[in-house]
Parts: sequence; C-alpha cells; structure tokens
Amino acid sequence: MKSSMWLTLFLAAGLVCVSARLAYVESVVKADVSDVNGDETIEDIMTRASVRRFTEAVPTDSMVQVLLRAGMAAHSIGNKQPWRMTVLVDDEIKDSVAGAFRNLKPVGDAPLAIVVCGVPGETYQGEGDGYWVADCSAMAQNVNIAAHAMGLGSVTCAVYPRSERMAKVKELLELPDSVVPFAMIPVGYPKAANTAKDKWDENKVSYK
Ligand SMILES: Cc1cc2nc3c(=O)[nH]c(=O)nc-3n(C[C@H](O)[C@H](O)[C@H](O)COP(=O)(O)O)c2cc1C
Repeated sequence: MKSSMWLTLFLAAGLVCVSARLAYVESVVKADVSDVNGDETIEDIMTRASVRRFTEAVPTDSMVQVLLRAGMAAHSIGNKQPWRMTVLVDDEIKDSVAGAFRNLKPVGDAPLAIVVCGVPGETYQGEGDGYWVADCSAMAQNVNIAAHAMGLGSVTCAVYPRSERMAKVKELLELPDSVVPFAMIPVGYPKAANTAKDKWDENKVSYK
C-alpha cells in the first residue's frame, strides 16, 4: 500500500473518532430526563426540599432505623467511616439545643433530631485530615433523602465549622473530645407542603 493511502486511512479513522466523540457530547448536552421519569430514587433526589416546621406526629422506630442505616450507607473516603450519630428525642435536650442558636431552632420544633458527628482521628491524617467533613456531608444528605422518601421532612442545620456552636453542642450533648459535631438534622412530618427549588444551571456544567 502506498504511503499516501495509509495517511488517508489514518485521517479517516481520526475523523470517525472525533465525530463519535462530538455525537456523544451532543447527546449528553441535549439529553432530557424522560428516560428516568418514574424512577422513585431519582424523583426523591429531585423533589427533596428542606423542612423546618413539623407536626407533632412522631416517626416510628423503624423509620428512625432506616434513617440511621441510610446515613451509614453513605460513601466515605477510603471507606474510613469517621462518623457517629446521636438521636435526640428528649424534649429538654432538644429545647436546650434549639435555644442556644437561632439556626438550630427547628430542632426544638421536631419530634426528633439526628446529630451527625465526625471523628477526625478515624480518617486519613496530614493532608487528608479534612476528609471527614466530606463523609459527614454525604451521611447528612443520605439522611435527608431517606427522610423525604418516607414522607418525612428534615433539614441539615450547620454546627461545624463554627467554634462557638461546636463547643456548646459538645457541652450540651456531653460528646467526647474525639468527636466533632458536624450538623443536626431535625426530622418529622412536614407542617406544610414544601416544593423543591429548581437549582439546575446549565452554565455550571462543561463538557470536555
Ligand atoms: C452543610 C449545610 C448546613 C446547613 N445549615 C442550615 C442551617 O443552619 N439552618 C437552616 O435553616 N438551613 C441550613 N441548611 C439548609 C440550606 O439552607 C438549604 O439546603 C438551602 O437553602 C437549599 O434549600 P433546599 O435544601 O430546600 O434545597 C444547611 C445546608 C447544608 C448543606
């Protein structure tokens, strides 16, 4: 075969690869979500919204178990699972937490709250010592989605990284020194319907 023919073949193959790649990118960009319509998991993720007011109805023990297990099913860097969970059901404790900081007020309104704590000493050390924050965030999101999937409402209320909140929550809950309170998630039946915000922003996505 002549060298010019090899060159033509090489260029044609390159063209096919580039075209296939462009077609793929275009299909991703133009994709609608109709192929997952009806999928309950996707729908629960898309329709979750923070809930801060609750009725007096109390979620069942098995619901609470689901929340805890969903939380611990979260992904975790190196699978270190540097987390703890505390379930607050005692009104006195919930009220003391709710009264301490304005952002924790929903804890006082909810029949229960799940406290997500990190254990920095149980994840990577040195440069990776902040990984527990990512793991606790994932845990919190799992709890919120599981709550929503069961018809409950919840909201993540920040404790970490504010030192005043961390110190007070540690004191009120008598947490050990090795543990950092990351967030509180009041959970209950929503007092009113809450619609999910549309956060989709195509401009925040790029394809390469
Ligand atoms: C780490 C974290 C901490 C948050 N802390 C609070 C909080 O202290 N108080 C509160 O009312 N909402 C808190 N939120 C909830 C956000 O305000 C809420 O997610 C945001 O307004 C978007 O609304 P959505 O959850 O309904 O989509 C927190 C959310 C995250 C992720």
